[in-house]
Amino acid sequence: MSDLTLRRCRLQDQADLVDVAIRNGVIDQISPASAQAAAISDAEIDCAGKLVTPPFVESHIHLDSVLAAGQPRFNQSGTLFEGIQIWGERKGSLTREDVKQRARAALELMATHGVLYVRTHVDVTEPRLVALDALLELREEVRDWTTVQIVAFPQDGIYSRPENDGLLEEALRRGADAVGGIPHYELTREDGVRSVIRIFDLADRYDRLIDIHCDEVDDEQSRFVEVIIAEAIKRGGGERVSASHTTAFGSYNDAYAYKLLGFLRRTNINFIANPLINITLQGRMDTYPKRRGLTRIKELWQNGVNVSLGQDCIYDPWYIFGTGSMIGVAYMTVHVSQMTGLPEIDACFDMIGKNGAKSLQIPDYGIAEGNPANLVVMDVETPFEALRYQAIPAVVISRGKVIARNQAAQQKFVG
Ligand code: FE2
Repeated sequence: MSDLTLRRCRLQDQADLVDVAIRNGVIDQISPASAQAAAISDAEIDCAGKLVTPPFVESHIHLDSVLAAGQPRFNQSGTLFEGIQIWGERKGSLTREDVKQRARAALELMATHGVLYVRTHVDVTEPRLVALDALLELREEVRDWTTVQIVAFPQDGIYSRPENDGLLEEALRRGADAVGGIPHYELTREDGVRSVIRIFDLADRYDRLIDIHCDEVDDEQSRFVEVIIAEAIKRGGGERVSASHTTAFGSYNDAYAYKLLGFLRRTNINFIANPLINITLQGRMDTYPKRRGLTRIKELWQNGVNVSLGQDCIYDPWYIFGTGSMIGVAYMTVHVSQMTGLPEIDACFDMIGKNGAKSLQIPDYGIAEGNPANLVVMDVETPFEALRYQAIPAVVISRGKVIARNQAAQQKFVG
């Protein structure tokens, strides 16, 4: 006897509808759909042929700064550097409750959009490590309904101040899941290279994942992704490594980019792009034509590299918008990367789903018997329609329990 059964589900890439039975928070059985849904009770949901997907994956966000736009002032230039400056003014006044309350609100918002796997970076150059402690606590508090992964992120650089290196290591001791970095923001090219090597050393020592903010500038001379690739080739285990943003990849000359794509075939690192924010942050120093400020998502995908997506920000010093929906991120990717062919649109949908699960190294992701019963019932039939209509999930199920229901927007022409 199941606790909850989803009738007539349309799974991605599967022709026939199925019923999904859930027991004790786990997907117990997937079977051909019954012809007609039984009388709907609390123990059944009739999906009526709508798309049912695994939860969406947020591969890159900063939960410590979400919902803090305007504190103490708004970013008027729209640049990364003014954002870092404003955050520098705000972070001294962070409290544990302040961070937890804003981060929890963002997680709940994301859950209503079917996002139940979240990788967050947390600034560990603030000497009290208040935000880190807050998010470590919150990660445990929300474990019943969402999965949070924490990257120790030295926002101001590992070598820009003597204490930062020690703070980064302390963050790992306290329980961060991954080591982060920002080589393009270190004081010199040499410090940037040194920081990448240090990150790999720390990951090896503490057995953690790696996710590095890398080359998030328009400068085509910012070339730290090659250092990440080199370390991943030399040390192996590239699947645990992610290069985030990598917007300079969009500015590299084609000969150099081609060389990098060749090197990438020798490892299997992940790329994480954040198109909503980078289309607004980058190209600010350009006149015209203005660069799109995005990594080469399409070419990476064409070369078999795992690419997933993040929002990066929700209403914070860097980006004043953000809804919590990953569908909106995939929608922007289709546009900015010019991936408008149908297989390309499906690929962008995968970037907020299974590709994200690969970046985050989630072992039991997907709709399969024995996996946790984490499911999202959409109000459309295909991934393409989900993006076309920027769909909101009808029902979100986490560990077998309905945690969110949304009404489809009611728009009616009455003229
Ligand atoms: Fe970021």
